[in-house]
Amino acid sequence: MAIDGKVALVTGAAMGIGLAIAKRLAADGAAIAMVDLNGDGVEKAAEELRASGAKVTTFVADVSKRDQVFAAVENCAKELGGLDIMVNNAGIAGMCPIMEITEDEMNRMQAINANSVLWGIQAAVAQFRKAGTKGKIINASSIAGHDGFPNLAAYCVSKFAVRSLTQSAAKEFGAEGITVNAYCPGVVATPLWKELDEEFAEKTGSGEGDTFEAFAAGAVLGRPQQGEDVANQVSWMAGPDSDFMTGQAVIVDGGMVFR
Ligand SMILES: NC(=O)c1ccc[n+]([C@@H]2O[C@H](COP(=O)([O-])OP(=O)(O)OC[C@H]3O[C@@H](n4cnc5c(N)ncnc54)[C@H](O)[C@@H]3O)[C@@H](O)[C@H]2O)c1
Repeated sequence: MAIDGKVALVTGAAMGIGLAIAKRLAADGAAIAMVDLNGDGVEKAAEELRASGAKVTTFVADVSKRDQVFAAVENCAKELGGLDIMVNNAGIAGMCPIMEITEDEMNRMQAINANSVLWGIQAAVAQFRKAGTKGKIINASSIAGHDGFPNLAAYCVSKFAVRSLTQSAAKEFGAEGITVNAYCPGVVATPLWKELDEEFAEKTGSGEGDTFEAFAAGAVLGRPQQGEDVANQVSWMAGPDSDFMTGQAVIVDGGMVFR
């Protein structure tokens, strides 16, 4: 297995894309530190992984808080013996026309989606240095980190920020053999999109599922993206076949945004 014996920490691992990534990296042979704000959710998800034979630990943290992210990494190193792969996945979305975005909403989106990635990079690099190891950092950006979308401006800003952090960190830590990349999914069938679809329905009068379907229909491959599609990409980014890639924010979206 490609990452047999490695240790991976995944944030936002209780459900959606993070859970799919945790399952896939466990199947690839890694021990997994599952981190989430939702303690019951992450524990339930961990039980599922343990039942399939994976070595898993859980930790409750709010990734927008620097000290909590550092504590999550420290716990991972203590429980699982180190850290090799840091997946800064946790995030939120929110539908809001530009003219209605408040200071609080802008700060919340930035703190949870972008600042969290900065804290995750810092905590992982501190651990890699302490252990004298190289490592891989993999961040969640989005097609919304490459293109601006109407009614999603605050989200887009936070995902563009992840792309820029990914580039800066790749340049700062490349000499230490630490790689930093981002995955950029399209429209993935997860609880996040269910909530977003409901927000669009409430604010625009669209029917349940209509917004998700309309967005997903933009993919030339003709089906909505699944968490497993993202996990396949992250599996490659976490493994040795991507060793010479750094600073990239790679779109895998079924053919929706072309770069
Ligand atoms: N679903 C999509 O279409 C899509 C597309 C592109 C990028 N993304 C990105 O992928 C990542 C995962 O998205 P998803 O669709 O799986 O979302 P989701 O809402 O389905 O799951 C997110 C998980 O993150 C956790 N979380 C939320 N805020 C947190 C916090 N402050 N601290 C710790 N954990 C927290 C939640 O409890 C949940 O378990 C996000 O960064 C998202 O922006 C998603």
